[in-house]
Amino acid sequence: MLNTEKLYEGKAKILYTTNNPEVLLTCYKDDATAFNAQKRGQIQGKGEINCTVSAALFKWLESLGIPTHYIDCPTPNQMRVKAVKIIPIEVVVRNIAAGSLCRQTGLPEGKVLPSPLVEYYLKNDDLGDPLLTLDRLFLLDIISQAQLVAIKEMALKINRHLQDFFASCQITLVDFKLEFGLDSQQQILLADEISPDTCRLWDRTETDPQARVMDKDRFRKDLGEVESAYQKVQARVLAQIEQWQKSG
Ligand code: TMP
Repeated sequence: MLNTEKLYEGKAKILYTTNNPEVLLTCYKDDATAFNAQKRGQIQGKGEINCTVSAALFKWLESLGIPTHYIDCPTPNQMRVKAVKIIPIEVVVRNIAAGSLCRQTGLPEGKVLPSPLVEYYLKNDDLGDPLLTLDRLFLLDIISQAQLVAIKEMALKINRHLQDFFASCQITLVDFKLEFGLDSQQQILLADEISPDTCRLWDRTETDPQARVMDKDRFRKDLGEVESAYQKVQARVLAQIEQWQKSG
């Protein structure tokens, strides 16, 4: 693509400008990090898989009325997106207890939550992405009350759609992280990615607590077979999208 300039390099993606100021190009990398980049590695083929899975899910969510930053994919690991100002909050939605929720509360892994839990973390690697209270969130002045209400509503709606979608792929959506951005009209768009890097996904055809893991926890916890788990997620997501397209 012409006139590109590196705007920002994150842990899993590089963002480039394009000749259109309203459009950015995201390149998904195979690099993998965990524990705020204390653990580093590569997951072969991850860039293409995460880009392809995110694109499929963004398109599908758009069709259900969720505005996203997605435009198209010029290559399998590149996504053109609408330029947005990212709101520096990582919105985590949890359906089942896992990860930091278990570490910080003592809840047993696998406990089904009575209703989805929505949490807000400050997107700041230097501070280790701390969990925020609502008062801290407003103290930092990074979002208005009205925007937070809108984001929570969007996150819960996305959760309902994704839970149904993954269930039809024989996958349980345990939890996931979303990021939102504001476009030039101040409209809130779903941004970043939705992929095995940013979701916990458990295979419903497996009962073993390690064998069922289909997401970045395989890398975080050294469970092995990381690539094949990511490939399996991609195959099931694409098959489900194809089926949904066929049925009109
Ligand atoms: P956690 O249990 O470690 O807080 O993670 C909750 C969810 O958020 C899980 O699906 C993984 C995702 N996540 C990210 O996408 N990026 C991150 O930096 C972290 C810590 C979690």
